Parts: sequence; structure tokens; C-alpha cells
Amino acid sequence: MTRYEQLAAQIRQQIEDNIWQVGDRLPSLRESVKQSGLSLMTVVQSYQLLESQGWIIARPQSGYYVAKSKTSFAAAKGGKGSHLSENVEINASIFGVLQACNDPDIIPFGSAFPESALLNEPKLAKSLASVARRITQQSAVANLPPGNEKLRRNIAQRYAMQGIHVSPDEIVITAGAMESLSFSLQSVTEPGDWVVIESPAFYGCLQAIERLKLKAVAIKTDPIFGLDLDALEDVVKNYPIKACWLMTHYQNPLGGTMPIRNKKRLVDILNHRQIVLIEDDVYGELYFGNQQPVAAKSLDTLNNFFHCSSFSKCLAPGFRVGWVAAGRHATKIQHLQMMSTVSASVPTQLAIAEYLSQGGYDNHLKKLRMTLEQRQHRLLSAIAQYMPDSVKVNTPKGGYFLWLEFEPPFNAVRLYQLALTQGISIAPGSMFSTSDQFNHAFRLNCSFTWSAQLEEAMKILGRLCHQLLNEKRD
Ligand SMILES: Cc1ncc(COP(=O)(O)O)c(C=O)c1O
Repeated sequence: MTRYEQLAAQIRQQIEDNIWQVGDRLPSLRESVKQSGLSLMTVVQSYQLLESQGWIIARPQSGYYVAKSKTSFAAAKGGKGSHLSENVEINASIFGVLQACNDPDIIPFGSAFPESALLNEPKLAKSLASVARRITQQSAVANLPPGNEKLRRNIAQRYAMQGIHVSPDEIVITAGAMESLSFSLQSVTEPGDWVVIESPAFYGCLQAIERLKLKAVAIKTDPIFGLDLDALEDVVKNYPIKACWLMTHYQNPLGGTMPIRNKKRLVDILNHRQIVLIEDDVYGELYFGNQQPVAAKSLDTLNNFFHCSSFSKCLAPGFRVGWVAAGRHATKIQHLQMMSTVSASVPTQLAIAEYLSQGGYDNHLKKLRMTLEQRQHRLLSAIAQYMPDSVKVNTPKGGYFLWLEFEPPFNAVRLYQLALTQGISIAPGSMFSTSDQFNHAFRLNCSFTWSAQLEEAMKILGRLCHQLLNEKRD
């Protein structure tokens, strides 16, 4: 390491340790020369390095300040070749991106949540208040796994309306979909087992695999049609795959939806080898138009698949209420839950059960879908206006993400860092893979009310993309 890199590493460490906080002015160049005994040139180089990495920003005539978010994004490690991911290691790189979205001063294009105002349902707040008045000590016991019966019946009724037969006894209420997905995976695997995942995949899937010490084969996923089934057929012949975790609708991050004929083929391939499907369907209710696409779980004749979802994306992210329709694995899921979180939160389970039983959820969803579709169009037109012409972007038929790509070697991690210094977050493609295949891409959340601030943020993002593309050419 050169001297200026050493000094930069020292300052970076101080920022990480909160010695210098966001917005603090760093020692001036002159002060730093005095303290470190290094030359002015060396100090300038180290400050410039930190600036280029997004840690600090220069304010003319004022000095260097710690940037809005002090988090840096390390590219995910661990991928071997384009498909195989032994030893998945992704956790560390994701936290920084997620933390940046929590800062209220940052435009949260990188966020995974819809705009909170969209989920403001006064009736739900009333249900929670009324439940809080009535709740007793006995309620905790009465709502232990599999969870509140009324809520499970209501969810089973919603499945029935889609033509999917799921008994309330097969449903387990969990603390959000992340818990239901993790328990599902844990219930059918042992450390060292192989699973199939999408490429790119929701980072929560990569984190769960890392935590459970599994090995993953990541299969190319199409931005329109979903998982590549020819590749899946090859993989299941060559690896002892235990489970396949994927999203059939509005895949995160790409936005694609698997057509019904592909779902049928997927189910055939998996059933042929008794491989379990873990279907992550958290965005399933957010379809545009009149027709909800039907889950692969509807084709589960062996009652062997998991269908996982939650109220986090449509109604109440902070309530942490989700579920899994676990078929014949339901008892195992309950055991796992009892051994870890014991049960989902009782007041929030009861509040959602009461809210659902009053009616009105479908109206809320209808409005939500229409708003999200309009907002997607708005962001698409800003992309057309401000992004370089070479940008590639699809138009998902639901959800609230847009996936943007430039030709490699466009560096979306660098875009993320530069954008953060301007108060804008994005979700760089590297969050969604253990390989570096998606470093040229990023995800934007299009659920926010359009405003002059958002317009300005898109202008800045467009300018930064132009800048990065020009750097590449030089
Ligand atoms: C694809 C996907 N699955 C699961 C989850 C987790 O959902 P929950 O907040 O209900 O745990 C998320 C949240 O971002 C997600 O995007």
C-alpha cells in the first residue's frame, strides 16, 4: 500500500468507527499535513481517493466533509464460474446499501419497500388499536404456531379465490416472508446441500443460503420469462439438488413473470426428481391489469411445495406478518419456528386478521396497483429523458422495480457510490449475485410520488451514467 492509500485507509476506518460522522468536516489539508507528517501532495491524493470512493465530498472554499452515507459497497465474493456458487458470501456487501435507504435525506431509489404513504390504511391502524384494548395474556398461547386461526382461514380463502386449494392447517404465520422462506429452506436441507437459485436473485435468498451453509447453482433468469428451464433441466441431472427457490411473479430484481406453460414445465422437472419448490411470491398481489397470474403452487399435486408471501409489500411492512403455505412440511416449519422466534407477533397477527375480515383489502390493493402502474410509467419516461440512449430497461407487468442495464464494463457500484454523494441511493446489480455478472446493471424503485426532487435525482443519475460511460471510452 502506498502512503496515500494508507492515510485513506486510516481515515476510512475512523469514519467507520464513527469518529467522523456524516456531515462532519475533516481536518483541512494543512492540518492533516501537520498531523501526519506527510507531504501536501500525498494528503491531497488520499482525500481524492476517499472522494472517488464516495466516503467524503469536497465543498469549494470550505473543505472535505463526510459524505451523506458513510457506507461503502464491496463487490460480492464467492462465485465460481457463472453458475456455481459454493460458499455463498454476500451479507457484508448488502448492509451498506440497505442502510443508505434508511436515511430520510436520501432519495431511496435503492429501497426494497414501496412508498410508505401508499400503505397508509387507517382501518388497519384502528384494528390494531382495538386489538390492543382486547388482548389478554392468553392470546400469546392461543396464537402460537401455526398462528392465528382466523388469519390462516382468511389467507386460505384468498388462495381459494385464485383457484388454489390450501387448507388453513397447511399455513404457518411467520414474521414476514423472509422468515417463511428461510424456514422453508431450512426444513428441507442440511448444511452442504445443493439448491437452485435464480441469477440474479433476491439478496435475502443469497443471505439465507450463506447462513444455512448451503451450496447454490444460480441459473440464468430472463427479465421477461423468468428462470431458464433448459438450464434447470441440465442442472438437476448433474447435481443432487434438494430445493429450488425462485420468484414466479415480478421477480426481484428483474421484474419478469413466468408464463403458465413454463410453470407447468418447471413443476414437471422438479416433481420428476422430488425436488421441492420454494416459491417466493411477495409481489404476487401487485399485478397490473385485471388478471392475477396464478402461482406454481396451484400445480402442486404432491403437496410438496412451499408458497411464501407476506403483507409487507402491500399493507404493513412494519407489522412483520407473513406466511408459508407449506403443504406436507407445515409441522416441520412450526417446529423450526418454535425453536427460533417462537411465533409471529400476536397483536399484528390479530390486527391484520380483523382488518381482513372487515373487507376493503381488495379495494386498497386495486388502488395500490393502479398507482404503481402510473408511477412505473412516470419513472420510465424520466429514464427515457435523462438516461443515455444505450440504457436497456424492461417494463414489468407488476411490482415496483425497474432493472436498468448498460453494456459491460459499466460499473454500477461506482454509480452507486457517486450517486450516494449526491444524496441518491440505487441498488447496484452486484447485490443480487455472488458473481460479478451484474456489475453493469442496477435496480430502481419506482413507487414514489413524482416530485421536483425526484426529477432532479433522475437528472443527476442520468448525468452520472453519461460520465461513467465516457470514462469507459477514454
Ligand atoms: C423478493 C422478496 N422476497 C422476500 C422479501 C421479504 O419480505 P418480508 O419483508 O415480508 O420479510 C422481500 C423484501 O424485500 C423481497 O423483495
